[in-house]
Amino acid sequence: MPTAERPDLETVRQCVADVDGWMTDGQAAALYEAAAACPASGTIVEIGSFRGRSTIVLASAAPSDARIYAIDPHAGNDRGPQEIDGYVDEADDDHRAFLANLAAAGVADRVTHLRMFSNAAHDAVDGSIDVLYIDGAHRYGPARADIVSWGERVRSGGTLLIHDSFSSVGVTAAIVRELVAGSRFRYVGRSRSLAIYRADLGPGDRWSNGARQAAQFPWFARNVALKAALLCGMGRVMERTGRDAPEWPY
Ligand SMILES: C[S@@+](CC[C@H](N)C(=O)[O-])C[C@H]1O[C@@H](n2cnc3c(N)ncnc32)[C@H](O)[C@@H]1O
Repeated sequence: MPTAERPDLETVRQCVADVDGWMTDGQAAALYEAAAACPASGTIVEIGSFRGRSTIVLASAAPSDARIYAIDPHAGNDRGPQEIDGYVDEADDDHRAFLANLAAAGVADRVTHLRMFSNAAHDAVDGSIDVLYIDGAHRYGPARADIVSWGERVRSGGTLLIHDSFSSVGVTAAIVRELVAGSRFRYVGRSRSLAIYRADLGPGDRWSNGARQAAQFPWFARNVALKAALLCGMGRVMERTGRDAPEWPY
């Protein structure tokens, strides 16, 4: 596998330190590991790139001859937490920042940006997928469609990563519908809300696979409660009384 030019994880973390987005250090490590394990000439697809924070990690860790697709319409919808519609001006900025950030990280030539909605991008990606990262629209319908229609393109043994798992209500509902009792993807674990699945679930492992995902529900309940409290102004109250407000969970 061509690895000669792969920067180490710490170098990549520093490279994205000033790139806006929603990806923790632990989540960067999970993406790095998945992309580094992509076979030579393999295919990596990211749905939802925003300003390139996760894209840069995937592209930096991938084998030098991997095909890397970043799908994001930069259309102003589902931009981030509580930014569902009406962010067109900001999305133009996101698009410019995305291109500039990839160029600054030295990965612009390695990534094919598909500026379209994920459901329209299938024909632009040939063959099966080795690593699929889903972090696009977080509402139930499109999140479920991404898991189903893009997930079925992940090759046997390939990796599926889903952000905002057991945190966003829409994404979690889609996971419950498609993966908790599913027959194909084995739940490997998660880094906060970034869930890792592998397409190698054995026929006798469905119950234990469902149980391991169900064990994440208390953490999901905690995240929903925290979001509700933040929406009700808990953060402002805490700041007024001199305490640090908890961040929006992801
Ligand atoms: C939470 S952000 C992604 C964050 C990014 N992965 C990071 O690490 O910073 C969600 C992104 O999904 C994009 N998006 C929304 N709907 C989409 C869709 N149907 N297909 C692909 N991307 C979509 C938005 O434009 C936005 O940039």
